[in-house]
Amino acid sequence: MKVLSGIFLLVVILVIIFGSPFPSEKPLRARYYNSPEPILPMSFEHQDHVKTNCLVCHHNYLDDTGIDMCMNCHVTNQEVWPLLEDQFHDLCRGCHAEKAAEDADDNPPRECIACHRESENQGEVGAFSSQPS
Ligand code: HEC
Ligand code: HEC
Ligand code: HEC
Ligand code: HEC
Repeated sequence: MKVLSGIFLLVVILVIIFGSPFPSEKPLRARYYNSPEPILPMSFEHQDHVKTNCLVCHHNYLDDTGIDMCMNCHVTNQEVWPLLEDQFHDLCRGCHAEKAAEDADDNPPRECIACHRESENQGEVGAFSSQPS
């Protein structure tokens, strides 16, 4: 009995320190940026990406198509909408995996929930989920 309650106490302490191993957050699909179909909300912060040149992501700054939110084009342009998952995983997950393989100091996450979650920062600039509709 003593051993069991000891283990129970240890688990409770670990959960308090590290959080539940079963994430309670579940990304909810919605028509962010008036997407034709509901999509997953995103987490994104510029402060995590200050070492990357703006043009790596903001390709539209180059061809002078104007300063605009990525999703405004990527969900409205019929040519690129079907490619959303592939293109953004290439860019975002691609770099995260590359950095992790390089064993860089900053080791960006690859698990789905790190990028796809109901952002705590909902409503702030920098979260993809800033404009649900
Ligand atoms: C790793 C990719 C990435 C890099 C690097 C990056 N951005 Fe962004 N930026 C984004 C994403 C994604 C959004 C859209 C966020 C949203 O929808 O909430 C965004 C949004 C913005 C916006 C608001 C939307 C707009 O265009 O009016 C501005 C301004 C901006 N970025 C400027 C910059 C500047 C300047 C740099 C370089 C110093 C930079 N960004 C670097 C990915 C990036
Ligand atoms: C003005 C409209 C527009 C904006 C704004 C825009 N894109 Fe795009 N994007 C496009 C179009 C159109 C293509 C496909 C043609 C091309 O590759 O130039 C594309 C292609 C891409 C690709 C695939 C490139 C490749 O080589 O396969 C990625 C990744 C991408 N965009 C990410 C972003 C990100 C991230 C943002 C915001 C920081 C953004 N885009 C903003 C219109 C836009
Ligand atoms: C050129 C490389 C690169 C690209 C492109 C990139 N990232 Fe990152 N990302 C990083 C690095 C490096 C970190 C870790 C930064 C740190 O810990 O200081 C990071 C951190 C993050 C984090 C923080 C995760 C956490 O929980 O700490 C999120 C979320 C994220 N990136 C989402 C994105 C999204 C979404 C895109 C595409 C729009 C993207 N990233 C594109 C390199 C990149
Ligand atoms: C580094 C960031 C990142 C990681 C990690 C990541 N994704 Fe994505 N994913 C994106 C971005 C950015 C988009 C395009 C924007 C959006 O869908 O809101 C996207 C789009 C998608 C889409 C298609 C559009 C949608 O929203 O339904 C699916 C499905 C998806 N991801 C599933 C996954 C799954 C499953 C995993 C884990 C195996 C995963 N993603 C990991 C960044 C990421």
